[in-house]
Amino acid sequence: MKITNRRIKRLEAFPEQTFEFPEKIDQGAESIVYKISNKYVAKVPRHNFLRLEKEFFIARGLYNKNISVPIPYGMFNITFWDLVRPAYIMEYIPGERLDTLRKLSKNERDKINNLFSREIEKVEDIGFTMDDVGTHNAIWSPEKQKVYLIDFSDWKKPGFFKKLIGKYKK
Ligand SMILES: Nc1ncnc2c1ncn2[C@@H]1O[C@H](COP(=O)(O)OP(=O)(O)OP(=O)(O)O)[C@@H](O)[C@H]1O
Ligand SMILES: [Mg+2]
Repeated sequence: MKITNRRIKRLEAFPEQTFEFPEKIDQGAESIVYKISNKYVAKVPRHNFLRLEKEFFIARGLYNKNISVPIPYGMFNITFWDLVRPAYIMEYIPGERLDTLRKLSKNERDKINNLFSREIEKVEDIGFTMDDVGTHNAIWSPEKQKVYLIDFSDWKKPGFFKKLIGKYKK
């Protein structure tokens, strides 16, 4: 089965009404990331919805294998002001990106880097080839004492999507 844009019609509306003042966290070439509440982040594609949906599928695969990633809630239509946009909704992680950690001792930084490396090894163990992997795509949560990996749209695993599409068809 070919994944087509028709799937957008099957997105549910995000069950938390309209977001009048979403806070923009960051904007990249491909997407814009908004904090839409204390619990949720919405990653909104600029043009390529399917690339982001792929990221959601990968996030779900990683999450199910106990890799530390923000909880992947799914693809939803969300309403910003009066605009309806498809978005990938995930858990909001309060923290700092690993490449911008400040005011930490060397011990603390070593501990965080070890946690990061451990997650990366787990990802390699389950067979993903990672693209754009680095400390800029990881968040340190002081509260949970955990490192979360983010941004997997270009990661690959042989057969991953084939299997997934098979499941989706049934
Ligand atoms: N779940 C999250 N919780 C808190 N902050 C987040 C979360 N996801 C992303 N961010 C913030 O938003 C920034 C951009 O996110 P991300 O790396 O996924 O997008 P990007 O680099 O623009 O990706 P792409 O190349 O797919 O467009 C991150 O560096 C991080 O600061
Ligand atoms: Mg990124």
